[in-house]
Amino acid sequence: MLSLNVNGKTVSVDAEPGTPLLWVLREQVGLTGTKYGCGVAQCGSCSVHIDGQLTRSCVMPVSAVAGKRITTIEGLSADASHPVQRAWAEFDVPQCGYCQSGQIMAAVALLRAKPKPTDKDIDDAMTNICRCGTYQRIRAAIHRAAGTGKGSGNGSVFHVVGDAGGTVAAATAVANAGAGRSPAGDA
Ligand code: FES
Ligand code: FES
Repeated sequence: MLSLNVNGKTVSVDAEPGTPLLWVLREQVGLTGTKYGCGVAQCGSCSVHIDGQLTRSCVMPVSAVAGKRITTIEGLSADASHPVQRAWAEFDVPQCGYCQSGQIMAAVALLRAKPKPTDKDIDDAMTNICRCGTYQRIRAAIHRAAGTGKGSGNGSVFHVVGDAGGTVAAATAVANAGAGRSPAGDA
């Protein structure tokens, strides 16, 4: 058994040490907001934070994250109220929605490192693939959350429920990040 800290909760999982974290999160912890895309660290749909660092969970052995702080899309907020999620909803960013959990996790990491990113900062940092081509709306939403676009940001982008050690409602709807849509293959 391995003990993991996921979104501020301690969970025990029974997995081979080399099992990718993505599958443990989805199949054992029940957090299906983190998506499988390529499985080879190329697309970013499986992005989570490990001790605050953006990580592609499809290639991260679960044994490597024991004792570390794992934050998934469900850990950003219990009700899609995280400023980045709200900006995503405001700009109606998702199309099919499949990539958007990973996009949001990447955006939160970017804003943590660069609270006022330029277009170039965004283009350089946001390497996640969106097959629907929502890149322009992603950029606009990041500026919105940062307060560098129209209007101002909606508050700190740094807080996540898991960071605060609070209780996380692992609702799949939240995993869809304020999109108001339920992408196919969600579960
Ligand atoms: S599924 Fe992990 S990067 Fe594509
Ligand atoms: S919205 Fe990005 S893949 Fe469809």
